Amino acid sequence: MRILTGIQPSGALHLGNYFGAMKPAIELLQQGEAFYFIADYHSMTSLTDAALRRQYTLDVALDFMACGLDPKRCIFWRQSDVPRVTELAWLLSTVTPMGLLERAHSYKDKKEKLASGDLDKVNHGLFAYPVLMAADILLFDSNIVPVGRDQKQHLEMTRDIAAKFNQLYGEVFVIPEPRIRDEVAVVPGVDGQKMSKSYGNTLELFGEEKALRKKVMGIKTDSRLPAEPKPDADHNIAIQLLKLVAPPDVALDWENRLKAGGLGYGDVKKALFEHYWDFLAPARARRAELASNLDHVESILRDGAQRAQAVADGVLSRARKACGL
Ligand code: ADP
Ligand code: TRP
Repeated sequence: MRILTGIQPSGALHLGNYFGAMKPAIELLQQGEAFYFIADYHSMTSLTDAALRRQYTLDVALDFMACGLDPKRCIFWRQSDVPRVTELAWLLSTVTPMGLLERAHSYKDKKEKLASGDLDKVNHGLFAYPVLMAADILLFDSNIVPVGRDQKQHLEMTRDIAAKFNQLYGEVFVIPEPRIRDEVAVVPGVDGQKMSKSYGNTLELFGEEKALRKKVMGIKTDSRLPAEPKPDADHNIAIQLLKLVAPPDVALDWENRLKAGGLGYGDVKKALFEHYWDFLAPARARRAELASNLDHVESILRDGAQRAQAVADGVLSRARKACGL
C-alpha cells in the first residue's frame, strides 16, 4: 500500500499541525510505503517571498524530522526537486473541466476574501491548485492520501480527474482513497478558535521560550475568581492543551483542582507552559542537531527526490504513451 501526503511550507508549524497532521503521518509509516513531500510549488500560490519560501521549506524539513519522521522509513522530498509533476499537471489539466475548478471551496474562499481589495492575487495557480495536487497524488500511484477535512474536496477532484483520464486514454492511473482524519481533535488556539496560522493564535513547536511563555500566559480565560469552583473546567483552553502535552493523570489533576475551586488560571497556565516546553524538549534537541548539519538535511531531501523521481518516471512515461505523446 502506498501512502502519500504533502505539507505546505507556509509558516512556522504549530501544535495543531503536530497533532492534526504530523503525528498521524508519522504513525502511518508502519502501514505501508510512505511518500511525504514539502509542497513548495503549492506555496507559490500565496507566498511570493523567495527567501521566506526557502526558509519555510527548510523549517518544515527540520520540524518534521525533529518530531520523529524517520527518512529511512519513507521517501521524503521537496516537491520542486521532482519537476515533472508539473508536466503531469498539464496532461491532467486538459481533462479537467473548468466548472470543476470553479466549484473548489479553497479557490472560492480565497477569491471572496481578496475580492474587496487585491483581485490581482487571484492568480491562475490558485485556480489550478487542485490539478497540481492531483498530479502530486497520481504521479506516484498513491493508494491512500491522509489529509485534513479541508482537503476532502481536493481528493474528490483528484479521483474525478483520474477517472476522466482513464476513460479517455485507458487504465493509466490508480484511483486514490482519501483518509480523512476526523478522529483527530481540533487543537484550540490561545483564543479558543481552531489553532491556525491565519488566526495568529498558534503555539509554535519550535519558537523562542520567552515569546511562547508570553503566549501561553495570554490564553483566554473568564473572569471568575480563583476561589470559585469551575465545574466546566474541561472546556478550559489551558486544560485542553494540557491534556495533549502532559501525562493524563497530571492533566486530570489540574482539571479537578479547577473544578474544586481555590486555584487560579495563572497557575494552570504556568503548569501548561512547563509541560509544553518539556514535551517538545527531545524534539528540540533533535532539531538543533539537524540544524547544525544542514548539508545532511539537504542530502536527505536530495536522496528522497531521486527515489521519488524513479517512481515518477515510470508513471509519467505510462501517461505520456497512453495519450499519444
Ligand atoms: P493553518 O490552519 O495553520 O494554516 P494548515 O492548513 O497549513 O494550517 O494545516 C496543515 C494541516 O494541519 C491541516 O490539513 C490539518 O490537518 C492540520 N491542522 C492545522 N491546524 C489544526 C488544528 N488546530 N487542529 C488539528 N489539526 C490541525
Ligand atoms: N493542499 C494540501 C494542504 O494545503 C497540501 C498538498 C499538496 C497535498 N499536494 C498534496 C496533500 C497532495 C496531500 C496530497 O494541506
